[in-house]
Amino acid sequence: MRMSKRMENLPPYLFVEINKKIAEKRAKGEEVISFAIGDPDIATPANIIDRLCQAAQDPANHRYPETAGLPELRQAIAQWYQRRFGVSLDADSEVLPLIGSKEGIGHIALCFIDAGDIALVPDPAYPVYSMGTILAGGKPYYMPLLQKNKFLPDLDAIPEDIVKGAKLLWLNYPNNPTGAVAELDFFNRVVQFARQHDLAVCHDAPYSEICFDDYQPVSFMQADGAKEVGMEFHSLSKSYNMTGWRIGMAVGNAGMIEALKRVKSNLDSGIPQAIQYAAIEALSGPQDSIEKHNATYQRRRDLVIDLLNDIGLEARPPKAGLYIWAKVPQGYTSLEFANDLLDKVGVAVIPGIGYGSNGEGYVRLSLTIPDAGLVKGLSRLAGWQDSKHRFKAKK
Ligand SMILES: Cc1ncc(COP(=O)(O)O)c(C=O)c1O
Repeated sequence: MRMSKRMENLPPYLFVEINKKIAEKRAKGEEVISFAIGDPDIATPANIIDRLCQAAQDPANHRYPETAGLPELRQAIAQWYQRRFGVSLDADSEVLPLIGSKEGIGHIALCFIDAGDIALVPDPAYPVYSMGTILAGGKPYYMPLLQKNKFLPDLDAIPEDIVKGAKLLWLNYPNNPTGAVAELDFFNRVVQFARQHDLAVCHDAPYSEICFDDYQPVSFMQADGAKEVGMEFHSLSKSYNMTGWRIGMAVGNAGMIEALKRVKSNLDSGIPQAIQYAAIEALSGPQDSIEKHNATYQRRRDLVIDLLNDIGLEARPPKAGLYIWAKVPQGYTSLEFANDLLDKVGVAVIPGIGYGSNGEGYVRLSLTIPDAGLVKGLSRLAGWQDSKHRFKAKK
């Protein structure tokens, strides 16, 4: 058996390794408190589940769905963008439902990237932007996201020859893993940059609804001319606690949407229709659960930030998203620190290096952990100590 060269360049997905380690510990009977994966612990709202159950009873929904999704779902997505961001979308040509946004993010590279082509990818970042590029035969060029630049890429620092060879520009705000947000002036600048260099922009925005302290994230699609140059990926996963349901969407430039639809129609057979009806209910039904869940995440955020700062791990409260990006203690790499936490106190966090070389020096903690686990996890974190470093709570 001879596998492709492509496989040699494809590492196992970040979470596969972390989950394996956690599972090994648990199999030995050790209790692990996991701040690792951003998978909401709160249930999907009841009205959405009810709609699924109802739709599942209808034999029409047992058949193959269309790649383009139900027209009613595309309408519901367009109306949601209008209500939430004031963005007008044509439901037929500018909206495409996805089997979770991850598949669309992975597949879009096939529409733009030929062998040797460059995609501009943030570092640190959600790994699928670069892995999709590599699977398509292209090369990611990593744009550092640095604290001194508020974790926004410095577009002017990208070398001229790289920009010339680049076809795609990836961005993600509210950002995973740094917790940073971007404002409209940055997105307007991105549109200008994309026009100047003939780039297609892919903005990934699954965390736009998870926000705190009255802050409201903006959409890339609100930028002047965004539709000319780009598209946005979004998801119901985090907004409605539907990670396991696998449903998301791409919106924006009609040519990009059409290309993605063509690739997908050749590779997948759409989203189960009962799930699509549930998604319509999520987007069009009562939205009060979002505020309620955000209050829970905000309370957890404040608990984690207070504890981290008390024990001397520098971390800032994010305005949006599900993650805390904390600096590791001096003398540790992010991997050493994460391994040490897991081994000594049974707490799992993600080492920043897993998101790219500029993630070194940080670990990511997710807020998707039930309160009892959170409190226990924080008390274990406070108790972590070793010969090199000793936490001293200020209080
Ligand atoms: C930045 C980012 N984009 C996309 C996704 C994928 O979301 P889904 O495929 O569940 O829509 C995630 C999931 O954690 C993410 O963090």
